[in-house]
Amino acid sequence: MPPLWALLALGCLRLGLGVNLKPQLASVTFATNNPTLTTVALEKPLCVFDSLAALDGPCEVYLYVLVDLASSRNASVQDATETPLSSTFQQTEGGRTGPYKAAAFDLTPCGDLPSLDAVGDVARASEILDAYLVRVGANVTCLSDPNFHGLCNPPLSGATEYRFKYVLLNMSTGLVQDQTLWSDPIRTNRLTPYSAIDTWPGRRSGGMIVITSILGSLPFFLLLAFAGAIVLSLLDVGGSDGETTHDSQITQEAVPKSLGTSEPAYTSVNRGPPLDRAEAYATKLQD
Ligand SMILES: *[C@@H]1O[C@H](CO)[C@@H](O)[C@H](O)[C@H]1NC(C)=O
Ligand SMILES: *[C@@H]1O[C@H](CO)[C@@H](O)[C@H](O)[C@H]1NC(C)=O
Ligand SMILES: *[C@@H]1O[C@H](CO)[C@@H](O)[C@H](O)[C@H]1NC(C)=O
Repeated sequence: MPPLWALLALGCLRLGLGVNLKPQLASVTFATNNPTLTTVALEKPLCVFDSLAALDGPCEVYLYVLVDLASSRNASVQDATETPLSSTFQQTEGGRTGPYKAAAFDLTPCGDLPSLDAVGDVARASEILDAYLVRVGANVTCLSDPNFHGLCNPPLSGATEYRFKYVLLNMSTGLVQDQTLWSDPIRTNRLTPYSAIDTWPGRRSGGMIVITSILGSLPFFLLLAFAGAIVLSLLDVGGSDGETTHDSQITQEAVPKSLGTSEPAYTSVNRGPPLDRAEAYATKLQD
């Protein structure tokens, strides 16, 4: 069972409406070393184009890749007749002179997605990851194969910022039916002596940040709860003095005995008023 934040991170793509979304980097749960020097794993646009209604007729999704340069920031991936570009990696110098088509895949209908619960199952993991993720730069053979003229998805350049866009193709008309925005720039890793062991990706997903900030504020909540407990106990002492005073006397007598006579510091702390004790505890907590 993947952590909840991973599901939330995947869910982000699903909530919005088609064209206003950007392709997102895959969650760290599914692609720990991402981006690498030559690849970028993205979430497929699941439940994006068909978030409102099931798609009517056969469709395919194209993934376009563009090097992030000022001159080509909002490049179009269709011509005047809305036919999607068929430019290749070689024709665009690896995305430097314009967007190239890196991948084409069928869209799993929103209701038919495999359950993420089974992703820990080794036998099914690759099938499930394939349903959710697409890896740009995954094919190391097609560039060097002179007889290959199909869709080629060769390795990306290191330390380069890329943008990505998904396009929904209507297979009956051959025209662009819908498209996402260009993604934010995503930088491939650069070659460092540590890149082999550095499995932490450059970016954190939104879910990761939420978890981090929750963990970060945990001491604050503990202190808050502690302060609340002190206030309550003070109110209690003020309200009904009979039983509580008795209790605290027992504690005060019991503690020095168990600690022995060689601990004057502790005994004086324990004999002080409740607030002093609280401060002593708080200092201990901060240590
Ligand atoms: C594809 O185009 C045809 C003709 O315009 C249209 O009827 C059909 O709904 C389109 N398919 C999708 C998935 O939008
Ligand atoms: C990008 O191009 C689209 C149409 O191709 C246009 O609607 C949009 O405003 C442009 N965005 C920017 C930032 O130029
Ligand atoms: C990689 O490219 C080769 C052509 O050289 C092709 O036969 C193969 O199916 C491609 N592999 C993938 C995973 O796309």
